[in-house]
Amino acid sequence: MAQVAGIKIAEFGGPEKMSFTRWETPTPGEGEILVRHEAIGVNFIDTYHRTGLYAVPLPSGIGLEAAGTVEAVGPGVSSPAVGDRVAYCSGPIGAYAEAHVIKADRCVTLPDWLASETIAASMLKGLTSQYLIRQIHRCGPDDTVLFHAGAGGVGQIAVQWLKHLGSTVIATAGGAEKCAIARALGADHVIDYRSEKVAPRVREITGGKGVRVVYDGVGKDTWLESLDSLQTRGLMVSFGNASGPVTGVDVGILAAKGSLFLTRPTLVHYTATRESLQGAADDYFAALKSGAVKIADPTVYALKDAVQAHTDLQGRKTTGSLILKP
Ligand SMILES: NC(=O)c1ccc[n+]([C@@H]2O[C@H](COP(=O)([O-])OP(=O)(O)OC[C@H]3O[C@@H](n4cnc5c(N)ncnc54)[C@H](OP(=O)(O)O)[C@@H]3O)[C@@H](O)[C@H]2O)c1
Repeated sequence: MAQVAGIKIAEFGGPEKMSFTRWETPTPGEGEILVRHEAIGVNFIDTYHRTGLYAVPLPSGIGLEAAGTVEAVGPGVSSPAVGDRVAYCSGPIGAYAEAHVIKADRCVTLPDWLASETIAASMLKGLTSQYLIRQIHRCGPDDTVLFHAGAGGVGQIAVQWLKHLGSTVIATAGGAEKCAIARALGADHVIDYRSEKVAPRVREITGGKGVRVVYDGVGKDTWLESLDSLQTRGLMVSFGNASGPVTGVDVGILAAKGSLFLTRPTLVHYTATRESLQGAADDYFAALKSGAVKIADPTVYALKDAVQAHTDLQGRKTTGSLILKP
């Protein structure tokens, strides 16, 4: 029986808990397909699965996103067909592998113009940007928004897309090099939050008013600065925990800071149905095709070097996206 190589975790912990191993090639069941991967996306959420912040049953594979070619289809699958190029970003967990079985209705078929590397580097981040700036709040020319980690994976896509939609973008980034990247992507103002307090700068930029929306994937370290950057009745979108989760919130703080709105969303709920997944993907693909959003060449690691990829991502050493190549 043929085997596939990939990454498994037997216990939660640091990057070194990921081991490169082999197992029997899985067979697709009812409604499933086997995808032979060409490129695998690395996302911050993978580190939460690895550490146990988002606990998964162990032992487990890791990774939610990849692009490749359909190698086999299970009973009841009419589309996609063997040989089609597809991508997925909602698991099941275990994408860090040469091949993986997924539900046929959780993948999208790729147009010829879209490289597997580009979409593996950006499907999860692109669909996240889509629901953040096109669904949670439909950002447009009247909006001034603050987007944290603007040189990161999600950040690079969102900054470009927001500019295309006509919004005024204030981005944060850590250090001069990352600030230069956010600026080059079109951010109107960039704050180096390693050396500058965010909220006073935002007040200065907005003439004291504050921003309409804050998009905060950094979490614990930026929570208060984010609330303090909002205009009265502004919207706080807390969508990640790169610095650690926000905990112990007294909801009264939303009143004290200006009758604020707060949401803590996840991509799963914005792409839960086939229609919502395809709709978000169509919107994102259109942004890529038109050139409104460009994906910088991702940093490429060999699949067996996933430990290094996680070390770099969590160490704030990366910009843009990371992919693993089988
Ligand atoms: N809710 C959802 O649906 C959803 C979906 C996708 C992603 N996310 C979240 O979005 C965020 C970005 O994800 P991504 O995959 O694109 O990662 P990323 O932005 O490429 O990497 C995280 C960035 O966060 C910044 N950061 C600030 N403090 C940090 C700390 N203490 N440790 C590590 N990084 C820190 C770093 O940028 P600087 O060096 O510039 O500070 C780092 O590069 C993550 O929080 C992720 O969980 C949420």
